[in-house]
Amino acid sequence: MYTPYPENMMESIKKVEATRAERMATEPRRLTADEKDALLKEFHPDYNPDAFAEIKVGPNKGEKAPRELAHMLHSTSRIQNEKIDLTKIDYDVDVLVIGGGGAGSSCAIEAHNAGADVMIVTKLRIGDANTMMAEGGIQAADKENDSPVQHYLDCFGGGHFAGRPELVKRLVMEAPDAIKWLNELGVEFDKEEDGEMITTHGGGTSRKRMHAAKDYSGAEIMRTIRDEVINLGIPVVEFTSAVELLKDEKGQVAGAVLQNMETGDYLVARAKTVVIATGGAGRMHYQGFPTSNHYGATADGLILGYRAGAPLLYQDSIQYHPTGAVYPAQILGALVTEKVRSVGAQLVNAEGEAYIHPLETRDVNASGVIRECREGRGVEVPGGLKGVWLDTPMIEILGGEGTIEKRIPAMFRMYMNYGIDMRKVPILIYPTLHYQNGGLEINGDGFTKTIPNLLVAGEAVGGIHGRNRLMGNSLLDIIVFGRNAGKAAAAKAKETEIGTMNLDHIYQYAEELKKADADEHDISPLLFPDYARHER
Ligand code: FUM
Repeated sequence: MYTPYPENMMESIKKVEATRAERMATEPRRLTADEKDALLKEFHPDYNPDAFAEIKVGPNKGEKAPRELAHMLHSTSRIQNEKIDLTKIDYDVDVLVIGGGGAGSSCAIEAHNAGADVMIVTKLRIGDANTMMAEGGIQAADKENDSPVQHYLDCFGGGHFAGRPELVKRLVMEAPDAIKWLNELGVEFDKEEDGEMITTHGGGTSRKRMHAAKDYSGAEIMRTIRDEVINLGIPVVEFTSAVELLKDEKGQVAGAVLQNMETGDYLVARAKTVVIATGGAGRMHYQGFPTSNHYGATADGLILGYRAGAPLLYQDSIQYHPTGAVYPAQILGALVTEKVRSVGAQLVNAEGEAYIHPLETRDVNASGVIRECREGRGVEVPGGLKGVWLDTPMIEILGGEGTIEKRIPAMFRMYMNYGIDMRKVPILIYPTLHYQNGGLEINGDGFTKTIPNLLVAGEAVGGIHGRNRLMGNSLLDIIVFGRNAGKAAAAKAKETEIGTMNLDHIYQYAEELKKADADEHDISPLLFPDYARHER
């Protein structure tokens, strides 16, 4: 007998197998709006009052944020006590893009194409970003049975009607062109023999509009736009972090102080416009959750922008992807793409019950997994964590032999590395910290509301997805808002004169912290998570 799991897990699998035929015959019903609300309020981590703290200073003073983020907002600048010579300019450009992921790269491409002198600075390498880790696909209503209006309704409703209409509209209206742009740049989307794009459902989509490159859609998109950045000769300064923004005497952004991650040296970049494209915050491990994010996802851009005076929006809204790997321990928190459910796998508890529809929105499904585990219907793994099953053998029963290797080959490989053949046995999952729904507030072109010439694109933006993002709308937003930010930053740079650069805002912020007695005596931004064992 094939037994890749410990005994207790194999015992539970017998129950999963016993109910499979019946489950396949009757799909779980969809929850009503009231049932969803009740589930979220009781089990979603955003409703855990102990996990949040009040922000004591700055534009969002009095609002709540995850404790770990509030701690960073209540910490001191890395360069508070450093002597930085702002007259010695190391880089002088029109557009400075902070971040080398999908949003930063598409922004830089468009700024370059608009004639600007643009530079990317990134604390790891170009492409070391959440974009690279995205798996399931990118949404766009570009087929006859669909429309941007339908896409708008799904996105707006899925986000609990909190998305900023101006931003949601741009996202959905410009989606078909984003796909066309990527396709023409060379992204190898899944297509039928006749060239028609293959599209599937994601959680909360009313039409099949998920375009994918198997289950490594983000890697394929990142590969393509990274090549374009390199082909265009756009300078990329790698292994260098932006540690603070610079402003001038008019209050407009004027560049950034950078730190070389190898030498520790500080560098000054002067720029007429600056785009924050620093990505997410998974490595802050809010509420102790594991994460699907890359190692640099530490909310840096939020800290830089906020300290300079840009307001945040929905900073208290976090996305926990329902299906992170919980076994084996080596891949704890790794993303198990929603596409696994799109192609047929059900969520099943330890008793073999399909307790929820697999394509409810992410916040609902994450809450459902947490409920099953808390109420004793989860499966325990060595070490004490719990999870529920994702019944992957269903995929091949429904779609035919070979479907798993064809449609989700990266998932297949990830599990086979540990001797788990997902064609034969289900896999065990639990929510993983996946995405920050909130971020810095922008207008439709990407400009912050309060700091002239400062733009934001990608996951560092708040307001596009409201309080819950649908699958495939993030790969979409980095392209739509990344490209728009690049065009807008280039145009604005043409009419901008920079004055004398200063760091006054960081000293004022420190003063405000002191006055509010809020200084938590740490430094921010974090830049990298600290996983070292400090005990002897
Ligand atoms: O499940 C996934 O493949 C994740 C996609 C996304 O976050 O958009």
